[in-house]
This record gives sequence, structure tokens and C-alpha cells, in this order.
Amino acid sequence: MKDSPLQCQAPDSLMLFGFWYRALPSERVRRRKLAKALLLETPLVIGRDAQGRAFALRDACPHRGMPLSCGSFDGQLVECSYHGWKFDAHTGQCREIPSLTAGQNLKIDRIYAGSLACQERDDYIWVFVPEPAPAGAGATKAAEPRISAPRVPTFTDKFKLAYLTADMPVSVDHGIIGLMDPAHGPFVHQAWWWRTRHSIHEKQKAFEPIPYGFRMSAHTPSSNSAPYKLVQLYADAESITTTIDFMLPNLRQETIRAGKYWFSSLTTVTPITRSHCRIDVVAAWNLFRWLPFGPELLKYVFAKFVEQDRHTMEKQAEGLRHNPHLMLIDDADRPAKWYFQLKQAYLESLRTGGEFRHPITGPVTLKWKS
Ligand code: FES
Ligand SMILES: [Fe+2]
Repeated sequence: MKDSPLQCQAPDSLMLFGFWYRALPSERVRRRKLAKALLLETPLVIGRDAQGRAFALRDACPHRGMPLSCGSFDGQLVECSYHGWKFDAHTGQCREIPSLTAGQNLKIDRIYAGSLACQERDDYIWVFVPEPAPAGAGATKAAEPRISAPRVPTFTDKFKLAYLTADMPVSVDHGIIGLMDPAHGPFVHQAWWWRTRHSIHEKQKAFEPIPYGFRMSAHTPSSNSAPYKLVQLYADAESITTTIDFMLPNLRQETIRAGKYWFSSLTTVTPITRSHCRIDVVAAWNLFRWLPFGPELLKYVFAKFVEQDRHTMEKQAEGLRHNPHLMLIDDADRPAKWYFQLKQAYLESLRTGGEFRHPITGPVTLKWKS
């Protein structure tokens, strides 16, 4: 595989279950309120109890399928709007069936609305989306996942946090490979203060395998970008290094460090349906803390970038509608190839029950112009 200069690989839009996904920004779910969310084609109702703790249930009543999001919520129990069954918000356990008479002893505590593990991290509500249950299996209480939801790395006690979200009309695969693609920068993200097509030059970056992913090893960022120079000036640091990690199913983590200052971000590409995904960027930093408009400025710059990507992918979706033949080339598209190989390896390990065989066996240096 390594030697083929040109390789055709069509994204299969397969969505990976059994991972944590960002469901909604925290601020969209108020206390004692319900909100809808769609993740991996799974409709969810997300809410926040009277104490402020978030929860997630499948948005279908186990009785006759009415969306629970149509019902009401008192801060503890979710009541279905169709026949008034009530469910514990966190466990999904049935607490009341109004139609039952005194003599009818249905064991209602054995009835569950499907619940999903839920954690709040960095201003987002994360939900663990498990492998779909076999057809016909009823819902039970959600099992607590072995690992907790990811969070954006931070390196000091005090820092600022901001987030950004954008819907993309393409599959999660196109969303992810678009995110890790180094060659579109000069064409899509042109700006006088960033770079232009004339600043294209040859680059060489070292990569290494990490669990379920790969890392662009700590390096000094591209010399042709003004913001990095600014950071360096501001931080008055000898060197500035950046590390970029990609990990299955959809995580891109970037850390920039310059002396005592740091900036980090955790970007996720979440499958909503087979043909739609959502990009969420959460950034944390201790730079520019004294600037009142720091977060706004940063958000503005980030929003510009994401909007350029969104606009591009919207156009790309038009082209993809007719299933064109696609190709990935070396070395610029190698990260994209790795992504597909990682996904394959993961699915293979699920299928066989065997160990995850990492497709990248050691450090690799990639070259491209951008
Ligand atoms: S459908 Fe929900 S109570 Fe009947
Ligand atoms: Fe981009």
C-alpha cells in the first residue's frame, strides 16, 4: 500500500459506535428543560435535572414510540405526552403508568426508556453512543463506559475557553479528511495576514503512531503564517512548538506552547446522519488573557476558517452527489489514508474480537507543498 503513488479510496460513511460524542453545547440545555439532538442517526432527548446534571435518553417512548422530547419534565421525571408514562431522567427507569388500576401488577420498574451515558466537559454535553442493541432487545439502564469523555488539554489553572460549531453537508469521513488535509490551506484559507497561494513552499513533517491515531510531532509551525509569529513575539519565547494529534473516532487535538503561554484546541467531527456531520471546536488558552476582546477576536478568526471549510464542503457535496471516482495521493493525502486504515483496523478488531492492529508501525516523515 505504501508504494502506490495513487490510490482510490471511497469514504464509506460508516459511523463508529462505542465512543463518546459531543451532543450539544452546554448552554443550549437549561435546568428542567429538554432539548433534541441527533447523533449517528440516533434521535436523543437531552436534559438537565433540577440540580443541573445533564442526562440523555433515546427520543422514543418504550410504550409506543412517541418522542419523549414532546413530553414534559419536572426536573426529575420525564413524562411522555401520549399516555403519561413517567421515566427517571438519568436511568430511564419507568416510575409510573397512569392507566394501571390497583389490581394490575405490571412490574413497571423493569421497563426502561433507553438511557445513554452523559458527561459534561468544556462547555459541551458528551454522550456515549453504544453499539446498537440486537433487534428486539428492550432498553435497560446505560452501562458506564470504561473511559470518560475527552477534554481539551490545559496547562495552567487560569485560562479562557471558547467554542464554535458548524454543520457540514458531507459525511463524517469527508469532514474528517477535510480537517486533516494540509494541501487546501493556500486555496481555501487565503488571507493577507495568513498566507496566499504565493507563499506555497515545500514542507516536511514528522509523524508517529499514538493509540488509535497519529501525531504530527512537536515542530515549529509554518514560518509563513503571521499569527504564529505574533504569538512568538508576545510570548517572548525562544521557541514555539505545536503538536497535532488525530485519534479515532473523530478527535483532532492541537497544542501550541511558547514559554509559559499555551493554546490548545479539541476539534470533533460528529456524524449526524450518513451524509451530514458537525464540526465543534473548543479552544482553551492563557495567551492574551489581559485583552478584553481576546476570545471574541479568536472566535472571529476561527469562525472565518470554519466558514471557509463549510462553504467548500457545501460545494464539494454537490460534486459528491453523483458518486464520482475519488483518489488520495501521497504524501499530502497520507493522513487521510491513515484515517481510513485506522477505521478499518478498528472495525476489524471488533469483528474478530482480536487486538487493534495499528496500521502505522513507526515514525514517518511526509513531504508536501502548501
Ligand atoms: S407512547 Fe409514551 S406513554 Fe404511550
Ligand atoms: Fe480547512
